[in-house]
Amino acid sequence: MCEHEQKGVTVWFTGLPCSGKSAVADRLDEILKERGYRAERLDGDIIRKELARDLGFSKSDRFENIRRVTFVAKLLTRNDVCVLTSFISPYREMRDHARREIGSFLEVYVKCPLEVCIRRDVRGMYKLALEGKIKNFTGVSDPYEEPLNPDLVLETDKETLDQSVAKVLGRLKELGVLE
Ligand SMILES: Nc1ncnc2c1ncn2[C@@H]1O[C@H](COP(=O)(O)OP(=O)(O)OP(=O)(O)O)[C@@H](O)[C@H]1O
Ligand SMILES: [Mg+2]
Repeated sequence: MCEHEQKGVTVWFTGLPCSGKSAVADRLDEILKERGYRAERLDGDIIRKELARDLGFSKSDRFENIRRVTFVAKLLTRNDVCVLTSFISPYREMRDHARREIGSFLEVYVKCPLEVCIRRDVRGMYKLALEGKIKNFTGVSDPYEEPLNPDLVLETDKETLDQSVAKVLGRLKELGVLE
């Protein structure tokens, strides 16, 4: 493994449940580490177990969850890590707050039509939400505010996983945060 010059950045993936945030971020994490870069994943599922066990899915709890994550991402980014976050982060205001706090920030909209996300239903959560068994489920019974000016858009119903990953890597190189 070789050491690289790298500048800190947070790549902030946002999108509906099952849009592909974790899939793209996990693959990117593998590739960066294979190439000798420092990368760290902050994923919704793990954070909700470790840092946000006390929080639910009300609007104010969602903001608090993202506020905590933003703080951690900020610390890592200023230590020149490539931080890969995968949170639905459904409100523009919370993503704008993250951008302001973190500074070196790339908002990646993982775009996928709701019908396709429902068909993927990786963990059966859409089914439960559509049956009314889960409340406040984004895309079904809770809002998702699409990014107005994302730095990058991945269309995961039209691209392969590898194509989506390559788009992010390309942008990171353009920005000069990776060699
Ligand atoms: N181009 C693509 N990019 C990413 N994922 C894709 C793509 N094409 C198909 N998929 C598939 O879509 C699914 C996306 O699930 P994933 O868990 O990554 O979603 P998520 O956005 O992290 O959802 P959640 O918010 O529930 O955590 C995976 O099974 C993945 O293999
Ligand atoms: Mg995920």
